[in-house]
Amino acid sequence: MTAFKFTDGDFRQISRILNSEAGIYLSEAKAPFVYSRLTKRLRALGMESFHDYCALIASDSGETERYQMIAALTTNVTRFFREEHHFADLRRHVLERLAPAARTGRRIRVWSAACSSGQEPYSIAMTIFSVLPEAESLNIRVLATDIDSYMIEAAIAGEYGEDAVESVPGDMRRKWFSPAGEGLWKISERLGSIVAFRKLNLVRPWPMKGKFDAIFCRNVAIYFEEKTQQEIWRRFVPLLNPGGALYIGHSERVTGPAASVLVSDGVTTYRLPEGVGP
Ligand SMILES: C[S@@+](CC[C@H](N)C(=O)[O-])C[C@H]1O[C@@H](n2cnc3c(N)ncnc32)[C@H](O)[C@@H]1O
Repeated sequence: MTAFKFTDGDFRQISRILNSEAGIYLSEAKAPFVYSRLTKRLRALGMESFHDYCALIASDSGETERYQMIAALTTNVTRFFREEHHFADLRRHVLERLAPAARTGRRIRVWSAACSSGQEPYSIAMTIFSVLPEAESLNIRVLATDIDSYMIEAAIAGEYGEDAVESVPGDMRRKWFSPAGEGLWKISERLGSIVAFRKLNLVRPWPMKGKFDAIFCRNVAIYFEEKTQQEIWRRFVPLLNPGGALYIGHSERVTGPAASVLVSDGVTTYRLPEGVGP
């Protein structure tokens, strides 16, 4: 196995680019992780040193590789119904509250803001259908976004192994998944019909104008510096409807300007009080 030359300067350049492109902060202790994740990229490109790799990602023509690098250095770990209490809150405090209005045409939007391979937005969609079985004929959508287009493609394909579907409650598994060959399960088209997947970088401008009744932004801000996290929480506030919920990761916390507007209302659950907002 070839050992590639990897200097402190190479590490600093990679972490600087990762930080400015994706907001992700890497401490020096992550150098071995960067080396092991990126050697595959060097081999794929037929490169002999990190010096050459850094020259590519720093160049104007390095955009595609910068995205490959981000994909290689981000973690996509996720699970259906991860942190079940968020889905219970979504059901009780958002969906059941809004269901009567939804049946007479009210728009409901939920955003899964770092959706990885789709387990989070499909869990949201299953929760929606459990409250509103006619959801696909109502004005209800889940927006699912991620920086990584490979993850978006995997999410749209909607195929999962046995291990992945294990955390889906039995009745929902029977209803929403069908066998797709050797140990694979595919989510139904009907479930997918209320989910729209888009590529979106959280540290760049967001194109959406409409408001959300719930935003899931879980286990991504943890990789950002405090000021970047605060900026993201702050940008969520005007995108929430009054009474809307923000769900964040188990080791995250809303700080900065958003913390004086959003009310903590349960474990890693925040709410925009009624009567707040433009
Ligand atoms: C650990 S997964 C979290 C998935 C899901 N939210 C959950 O909690 O199970 C983190 C995801 O954040 C995405 N990500 C990293 N940086 C991002 C950025 N700047 N903008 C949008 N997504 C990003 C990664 O591609 C990855 O899919």
